[in-house]
Amino acid sequence: WGKTGHRVTGEIAQEYLTGKAKRALSDLLDGHSLAFVSTFADDIKADRSYSKYSAWHYVNYPLGMSYKDSEKSEYGDIVTAIEECIAKVKDKNNTRQDRVFHLKLLIHFIGDLHQPMHASRAEDKGGNDIQVQWFGEGSNLHRVWDKNLIESYGMTYTELASELSEVGRKKRKEIQEGTIYDWVDESHKICAELYDSVEVGEKLGYRYSYDYNNLLFQQLQRGGLRLAKVLNEVFK
Ligand code: ADE
Ligand code: ZN
Ligand code: ZN
Repeated sequence: WGKTGHRVTGEIAQEYLTGKAKRALSDLLDGHSLAFVSTFADDIKADRSYSKYSAWHYVNYPLGMSYKDSEKSEYGDIVTAIEECIAKVKDKNNTRQDRVFHLKLLIHFIGDLHQPMHASRAEDKGGNDIQVQWFGEGSNLHRVWDKNLIESYGMTYTELASELSEVGRKKRKEIQEGTIYDWVDESHKICAELYDSVEVGEKLGYRYSYDYNNLLFQQLQRGGLRLAKVLNEVFK
């Protein structure tokens, strides 16, 4: 996601933290919100000394396959990244600096896991090579899902989060079920549908924004509620 998607994810998660997780997070993040630190993993991309983390934002495997059956990248992927971050944050033998660094990455990657084009296929780099027009301007399928679609609703991240935070207990528990492996395959299936529904060079605008409103909001809501679940377990 772009900045808005990550901040919405963090802001929703903040609402569903246990007291214990809230205290641990406030200490490690020096009082900053999840939304505030959620974009850190993108901010460090410009610094070449952090290049090893660039493959950690996504995973590509053939459409129709499950993550578990797929060939793994030697550079790691979003699933191995999340596992490594959880392990680093949990282990109190690590330095505070190392735990904080991986906590910020974890908050970001749980968000990205729910951007369908981040659980994608390699041929077109998760839609980056599928050029389309967005309201008359050049874009690509990846960028549409990272930011163009979210921005089309003209809502701030706090407005989006307050809308999507309202969810009954039963539905929340359902959404929070499952593991990272279930969630990556769920995103990957959605990704396959998104590829099927556009053509290269297509002019996307109001129609697309309307048709995919529910799916976009659903993915942001899932990301936020599941981030809360992961953090509540890390700081149990
Ligand atoms: N580069 C290659 N594949 C990618 C993906 N799925 N998402 C973001 N960047 C990528
Ligand atoms: Zn992206
Ligand atoms: Zn990212």
